[in-house]
Amino acid sequence: MKTTTREPRGDALRIERMDIAYGDAEPVVRDVDLRVGSGEIVGVIGESGSGKSSVALASLGLLPDSASILVDRMEVAGQDVTGLDELAWCDLRGRSAGMVFQEPMTALNPCVRVGAQIAEVLRIHGLADAAAARERALELLRLVRMPDPERRLRSYPHQLSGGQRQRVVIAIAMAASPALLVADEATTALDVTVQAQILELLRALRDDTGVGVLFISHDLGVIGQLCDRIAVMYRGRVVETGPAAEVLGAPSHPYTKALLGSIPTRATPARSPLAVIDRAALEEAIA
Ligand SMILES: Nc1ncnc2c1ncn2[C@@H]1O[C@H](COP(=O)(O)OP(=O)(O)OP(=O)(O)O)[C@@H](O)[C@H]1O
Ligand SMILES: [Mg+2]
Repeated sequence: MKTTTREPRGDALRIERMDIAYGDAEPVVRDVDLRVGSGEIVGVIGESGSGKSSVALASLGLLPDSASILVDRMEVAGQDVTGLDELAWCDLRGRSAGMVFQEPMTALNPCVRVGAQIAEVLRIHGLADAAAARERALELLRLVRMPDPERRLRSYPHQLSGGQRQRVVIAIAMAASPALLVADEATTALDVTVQAQILELLRALRDDTGVGVLFISHDLGVIGQLCDRIAVMYRGRVVETGPAAEVLGAPSHPYTKALLGSIPTRATPARSPLAVIDRAALEEAIA
């Protein structure tokens, strides 16, 4: 099956010195370098508003018209994507890049059976004709370890659990055997057990297909479990990047330290969620 074998295509994603601004406002992303190698899972972590989703959307050519990007270099699956028009981006997303966002229900059409939705995507991108589509859809459901895949082809999204719906979204994202998979808070809405299963699936997909994964989360625990490398964003900049064990084991930036609970603050116990980091103490540490 095509999904399980893939020629190496260089890095899944390569970004050098990217700025993103919305409208006339100050840039919300500045000077960001990011690389996702083939077969690598790279986590981006940072507080709300730090620019994670903006980077994710830019990687897929999905920023709104109001946004402007300045970048020295940007490649997806080894292809230069600076200056691509909308049509070329659509083509690239169909062939080389898949995406998974937080709420699978909004990504799926509630009135169309799962098998037909996958078949539609295969047809739009010319990946399978009508005759082959069912078999290929079934292969994709197997690829994402969907329980009872034959039956699930005939299910409507509301008949699936949240985790199963996210598997369908991932199956669609993997339809073209992409080099890059972008997952933005893909497990945030799931309960902890299901979250762990989806993380396991992403790891398995990486191993099976060599896809490079850009995994965005504000949850350090999740990022720590999954990722080979981590980039920490703070106020639009990547303030720290490196192998996961290094960043988590010996963080160098005060924000990462705060994230890891190693800067004791008034209000926050160790390893507390981002939302309760004591900003005043952090600002003081950075100053
Ligand atoms: N479409 C938009 N128009 C204007 N400003 C935007 C738009 N999208 C995002 N922003 C702003 O850009 C900044 C970065 O937002 P972004 O969504 O990239 O952050 P994030 O790290 O993904 O946050 P979260 O963890 O809440 O998802 C924020 O200040 C946000 O308000
Ligand atoms: Mg976001």
